[in-house]
Amino acid sequence: MDVLAIDPRNIDTDLVVCAAFEGQTGSLSGWSPATKSEIDRAQASKEFTGKLFETFLTPIVAGDFRARRLAAIGLGREADFTIDRARRVATAIGLQARDKKIARIAFTADGALDAPEMIQALAEGLTLAEFEAGHYKTWDYAPFRLDALAILTSERSLEAATAAVRRGRIIGQHCNMARALDNEPANVLTPSLFADRLVAITQTVGLTADALGQLELERLGMAMLLGVGRGSAEAPRLVILRYNPAGAPDTPVLGLVGKGITFDTGGISIKPAADMERMKDDMAGAAAVACAMRAMAELSVPLRVIGVIPIAENMPGGRAIRPGDVLKSASGKTVEVINTDAEGRLILGDALWYAQQLGATHLVDIATLTGAISVALGRITSGLFGMPPAFVEHVRDIGERAGDRCWPLPLFEEYKDQLRSEIADMSNTGGRIGGAITAALFLREFTGGLPWIHMDIAGTAWADESKPFMPKGPTGVGVRTLIELACTAETWGKFGKS
Ligand code: BES
Ligand code: MN
Ligand code: ZN
Repeated sequence: MDVLAIDPRNIDTDLVVCAAFEGQTGSLSGWSPATKSEIDRAQASKEFTGKLFETFLTPIVAGDFRARRLAAIGLGREADFTIDRARRVATAIGLQARDKKIARIAFTADGALDAPEMIQALAEGLTLAEFEAGHYKTWDYAPFRLDALAILTSERSLEAATAAVRRGRIIGQHCNMARALDNEPANVLTPSLFADRLVAITQTVGLTADALGQLELERLGMAMLLGVGRGSAEAPRLVILRYNPAGAPDTPVLGLVGKGITFDTGGISIKPAADMERMKDDMAGAAAVACAMRAMAELSVPLRVIGVIPIAENMPGGRAIRPGDVLKSASGKTVEVINTDAEGRLILGDALWYAQQLGATHLVDIATLTGAISVALGRITSGLFGMPPAFVEHVRDIGERAGDRCWPLPLFEEYKDQLRSEIADMSNTGGRIGGAITAALFLREFTGGLPWIHMDIAGTAWADESKPFMPKGPTGVGVRTLIELACTAETWGKFGKS
């Protein structure tokens, strides 16, 4: 992606993009001669008013321009403008360009868009538009690729813009990498192959990566992870990623844990058939952790990070765990499995405990954990849990700017009654009501009181409907937030052990 401080007249491209706020489209009048007044006509007729994502495309027919077309795109009302809107507008124009087989785009980052965080968002947004999901299609399918993306800025902003675009590009690419993994079917990404893929992609950027198998998990006593994997012909794995940048302080050490269920049938407590195919993305948390860590290395973020990624396939079978079975977790706590479909919390419990053993001082887990979170928050917002509250608020704020909306839910002690078991330390389900909260409380039992964040992305990891800024399918939720969070580590002193 190029960053250029040149007159839009001189850029050789297929599409110059100019954005305008609602009711402020007069800023486009400079394009009037180039478009033979088409841009004025569109404003007069209200074809283009600057509403969010509204797009007007016209050829450049006059003057000495090297660009072929102009796109005006709406930013919505100025008072409602956010970094995430800049990102979404960039994705929206990128997706429309691909639709129309327009390969070269130059986005004009002027006015409100001429600030490093906005330029980064534009670069992320354009990069997200490159995501391609068709690689299994063989018939009548020719993927159209954007090539030659550019951001146009002022001479004064050029240096900062260049750094912002590099950052945005890397973040966008790693988000797309996670989306590609989420899209892979479960017959391709078995636990062992998924683990190998995560090791391969992270080793190339200098992370240390290990995949532990059955015997090592037995030695660590991870009966919850092993239990979930028992019904499958494919043994579970635990992927350990370490990012130790030279010169980083000894603390904090971020422990990232991501749910890696390559397919969730529910196990013996089997799920209904409708929409079960979606359960191939029950590893979206795992992909987010690995891809975010890869991006941290590419961006040389000065923080020690440990990724702990439990991977298993949740299947029914003659060796599968049954409702009523009791498992002894690696931490020593015992759990009665009331419902084998509440498997995510089992594998995460062992992984959260292990992240502490490896020296994490701050824990963040991300998981497609409960259907209940979409009952509470719909498909727009991820559930956010954790302690202390200031840490939760910090992540909420970062997520908002990164375009991963999250909202805090409580962890009041009273809910814990729902996890009571007659024969073990706790049960793995708390019933239907407050299901996202009792799942989070289950996880908290394995955090050792460290500062901890849990993101429940079961409602947000997959888009069921296309939006102007997000096609149907995997969203890559969480990747951008994890990366941006790691970049704020110097402020974490105030989130000490509670
Ligand atoms: N992977 C699912 C959660 C999920 C549901 C993700 C829908 C994406 C879309 C999780 O393992 C699960 O099955 N949770 C159960 C828990 C229940 C048995 C306590 C649920 O939400 O129904
Ligand atoms: Mn499940
Ligand atoms: Zn699951």
